[in-house]
Amino acid sequence: MDKSQAKQKIASLTKQIKHHADLYYTKDKPVISDQEYDQFFRQLQKLEKEFPELSAEDSPSQRVGGKPLKLFKTITHKTPLLSLDNAMNFEELEAFDERVRKGLGLGEERVEYVAELKMDGLAISLLYKHGKFVQGATRGDGKNGEEITQNLKTIRSIPLTLAEPVDLEARGEAYLPLKDFAALNEERETAGEPRFANPRNAAAGSLRQLDPKITASRPLDIFIYFGLGPDMKKHSDVLDYLAQLGFKTNPNTEICSGLSEVKNFVEKWEEKRDKLPYEIDGIVVKVNSFPDQKKLGFTARAPRWAIAYKFAPRQAETIIEKIDLQVGRTGAITPVAKLSPVKVGGVTVKRATLHNEDEVKRKEIKIGDYVKIQRAGDVIPEVVSVIKAKRTGDEKEFQMPKHCPVCNSELYRPEGEAITRCINAACPAQVKERIRHFCTREAMDIEHVGPAVVDQLVEHKLVKDVADLYGLTTKELESLARFAEKSARNVIDSIQNSKDRPSDRLLYALGIRMVGRIVASLIAQHYDSLEDLFDIKAGELEKIHGIGDKVASSVERFFAQKENHKLIERLKKDGVRITDQKAKGPQPLKNKTFVFTGGLAMMARPEAEELVRSLGGHPSSSVSKQTDYLVAGTEPGTKYEKAKKLGVKIISEKEFDSLIKKA
Ligand code: IVH
Repeated sequence: MDKSQAKQKIASLTKQIKHHADLYYTKDKPVISDQEYDQFFRQLQKLEKEFPELSAEDSPSQRVGGKPLKLFKTITHKTPLLSLDNAMNFEELEAFDERVRKGLGLGEERVEYVAELKMDGLAISLLYKHGKFVQGATRGDGKNGEEITQNLKTIRSIPLTLAEPVDLEARGEAYLPLKDFAALNEERETAGEPRFANPRNAAAGSLRQLDPKITASRPLDIFIYFGLGPDMKKHSDVLDYLAQLGFKTNPNTEICSGLSEVKNFVEKWEEKRDKLPYEIDGIVVKVNSFPDQKKLGFTARAPRWAIAYKFAPRQAETIIEKIDLQVGRTGAITPVAKLSPVKVGGVTVKRATLHNEDEVKRKEIKIGDYVKIQRAGDVIPEVVSVIKAKRTGDEKEFQMPKHCPVCNSELYRPEGEAITRCINAACPAQVKERIRHFCTREAMDIEHVGPAVVDQLVEHKLVKDVADLYGLTTKELESLARFAEKSARNVIDSIQNSKDRPSDRLLYALGIRMVGRIVASLIAQHYDSLEDLFDIKAGELEKIHGIGDKVASSVERFFAQKENHKLIERLKKDGVRITDQKAKGPQPLKNKTFVFTGGLAMMARPEAEELVRSLGGHPSSSVSKQTDYLVAGTEPGTKYEKAKKLGVKIISEKEFDSLIKKA
């Protein structure tokens, strides 16, 4: 390829990548697979390496991170980033509304507000000149912040170039999604590093890294809630405009006519906050009209036209009654505090994780201590700190036992690791946890085999590993307590239905240490069959972009064990798919998930599911938000109601048929 060809190719790749990155990171609606995206990206990187003079400053490849810094520069914000006054309850919210109406000389008329989620992250300012991102900074003390442009460039939803060549400052909240927060902490724990106390600290810690490569490895995101520059009449217009320019704004934002609608919004989100993939700590209410905002003005620290309604903190005080030990599927022993039950944000909490021996030591936790506990989203409650002033002297030190509380074999703590393990693979606790994990929705999605069923199966020695599941009979199940013919059939059917999951699901389901869903899918993209992984070497796996040395050696260790080969061979013999058929022919249903309910007239369900698969789609047995279509046959079951509730598209068998034929 000569230079002018390369130039053209770079331009077209850049355009494609930007388009798909916007769909993926900003609009949350990807249309191509991650693999296809990666391919574009790698092609671009390759060309830019060959022709460095052609790589543009705002190329998507520039996000991966520049050189480490020695120190952050302090910058002065042109307009200070103010904070907000708080309302702790509805009375204080009413008082705010009254002040606003008084300030605007209104009587009983309703004020138009914009209600937004108050993200629990950290405030960021982004400067654009002629549509180019030129500087990003933290809020700091409001007047002065730290310049962290390089790090902010690693956040994919921050546009490097705007749709219009405007000068503007955008402000928003950077945050770490809850699942990434949990994954990051897990990773830190295995690496022997201290955990982050909450997602906000994790986001702040990630952005204040001198080496942007570290920031790039943390999947931070940002919602923009403020724009300085455009000449408009309303805050809601600015938000629309910001979205048009390419910024990610929070879709859960509403214009409210008067305080009663604001209250409805607050109540709705106070209830739904646990369902969000990120942490929020309240609602921000802003007067929508700019002329009205101007009339109201500011106090020394905050605008008079906005207020932050704070949710009740999800922290509470209670006593640690005792410390139990839990054995995980990889044998990790986790100390868990049994608490005097206490209400935290509407949920009664009885247990909190203490993570590991070092965390107990670091927080100086003793049995009998008064502690502050905290809950975030669906993450397991944690002990934040000990209230030492309340100690009586009767508290007892916690000692990590020498033997497994379940199988009594000797425990082992590898040097440099924080986690103590039971290394007896036959330990019943581990067996149960491995089978439970195998059946979860994200793994093999075996709907009718929940934790209680697994307990029964293992305790009655019907199942001692995951391959045994596929040999179960209805008769065996019917011999168990609480099982009748129908429930036994459901279990068997859901096990049989799981045989055809894509191989990345199976790889994840096997519960290999450090192999999460992302790693599993990366590996599966590079190998057609799980059998290709037998005798794999870490060095070979490390060549896969995104797989580090620790993960690679964990996978090597797993596949070095002959028992694991046998397990996979038994699964294969039972008809579990261990090889992905590579895509053939057109793929019109690509990445679309289908669920069938009720009776089908034209074909049997397994046939319909096979058809979906052959056209690139994924059949699934349960409805979730990820489901694209529910195909409803005659007498549809409970899936129908669930799909309706989740807003999943419901189609008839006929419509399904024409969808395929169109293809
Ligand atoms: S508006 C003058 N909107 O809350 C307007 N702030 O307590 C200032 N925050 O420093 C901010 N979500 O870090 C605004 N939708 C939202 C927000 C939000 C979170 C944070 C922000 C600010 C703090 C004020």
